[in-house]
Amino acid sequence: MFSVVVLISGGGSNLRALLTAAASPLYPAKVVSVGSDKPATGLEHAEEFGVPTFVVEPSGFESRETWAEILLSNIEFHKPDLVVLAGFMRVLPANIVNKLSPRMINLHPSLLPDFPGANAVADALAAGASVTGATVHIVDEGVDTGKVLTQASIPVAPGISEIDLHEQIKLVEQQQLVQAVRDIATGLLLLAEKEQNA
Ligand code: GRF
Repeated sequence: MFSVVVLISGGGSNLRALLTAAASPLYPAKVVSVGSDKPATGLEHAEEFGVPTFVVEPSGFESRETWAEILLSNIEFHKPDLVVLAGFMRVLPANIVNKLSPRMINLHPSLLPDFPGANAVADALAAGASVTGATVHIVDEGVDTGKVLTQASIPVAPGISEIDLHEQIKLVEQQQLVQAVRDIATGLLLLAEKEQNA
């Protein structure tokens, strides 16, 4: 079975959507572990679904690279076919990206390349965007710069708050993530050129 490790930092609504989908025997992927950079509340979803968790906090490590080595060893212990960053709010250093990319994807709450970074929803509102959206992309060494895999558009209602708009985006992201992981697991969505010739 195609196996997935999910990394989160927050509430984990997208993680929960994936866990719920993967609980169906018809879904072609399984979440084998959930990791975080802090004791995130979203880890409770994993516990509810009986999925093991790990937390590797950067504090206490001498560098980002050393922290990432330990994070990587926790991920690789589960031998995942895919790593999903679902609200994981840290930029990963090159030593971990090079090991996992292109088999590592990120969910971002904007239509990339518009509004990269940690404040995508606020930035879209500040720019007066009438449409924003959600993107699933491959993680590379940049900040939200990797190859775009799927995108969905969402109209921005006049006067909507950042919180409400982000909630609307998350509802779309949840479906988008479940679909993207399904399509990657079944080979409909290819992460690397060489997979096409394999
Ligand atoms: C999502 O909007 C994701 O795109 C962004 O952080 C949010 C995580 O939400 N990177 P949740 O923790 O899955 O509820």
